[in-house]
Amino acid sequence: MKLIGEKIYLRYPKRSDAEWITKEINSKDILPKLFIFKRGKVSLNDEINWIKKQSSLRKKWDSINFVIIDQNTGERIGCCGIHSIKREDNYGELGIWITKKYWGKGQSLDAIKTLMRHGFEKLNFHAFKASPYEWNIQSKKHIEKIGMKYEGTLRDRHLINGKYYSEFSYSITKEEFNAKDRD
Ligand SMILES: CC(C)(COP(=O)(O)OP(=O)(O)OC[C@H]1O[C@@H](n2cnc3c(N)ncnc32)[C@H](O)[C@@H]1OP(=O)(O)O)[C@@H](O)C(=O)NCCC(=O)NCCS
Repeated sequence: MKLIGEKIYLRYPKRSDAEWITKEINSKDILPKLFIFKRGKVSLNDEINWIKKQSSLRKKWDSINFVIIDQNTGERIGCCGIHSIKREDNYGELGIWITKKYWGKGQSLDAIKTLMRHGFEKLNFHAFKASPYEWNIQSKKHIEKIGMKYEGTLRDRHLINGKYYSEFSYSITKEEFNAKDRD
């Protein structure tokens, strides 16, 4: 499975990605922005197990995850996916992280749009949600650029190191995405 964008392509994670993902996801620029942060650092073993489970997660419509590859360099630059899938509602939550040296260069937008196009056109999703921490301005800007709409705040939703943090909720429907994608 290969999903081709303009600057990147997406492919399923494989065993040989485990060391790289473990190193990148634990970076101080990425991990604190993900909800898994409260469980602490991700171990290589966690990553190997996560990769092993991918095919069964897809079959169960639990989550669908991809590694993002830069088309020019062939380098792995991040991961993205659809998780917390509610198949009965054709609804899922988007997640993405990109290695810092690729921030602000357009690959992240290309990756998330490629994932959304696949979700809406091929997998029959009707709407996607995204949930940045309230303080994650970079992610909020990124999400708004895709056309996602703010729909509310889950107040003090996360307890991290004894302090509560709120979560912003954004969403987009297939119709809204198609209108924005044609711009
Ligand atoms: C979220 C992420 C994928 C976005 O990728 P990106 O390439 O940085 O995104 P974009 O360049 O499209 O947009 C980021 C915007 O935030 C702005 N920005 C970056 N750092 C910022 C900061 N500290 N404060 C305010 N704005 C900031 C950028 O200038 C840009 O806005 P602009 O296009 O108006 O100039 C990437 O930053 C990332 O992987 N972050 C760590 C993990 C993460 O937060 N994932 C999302 C969890 S919900």
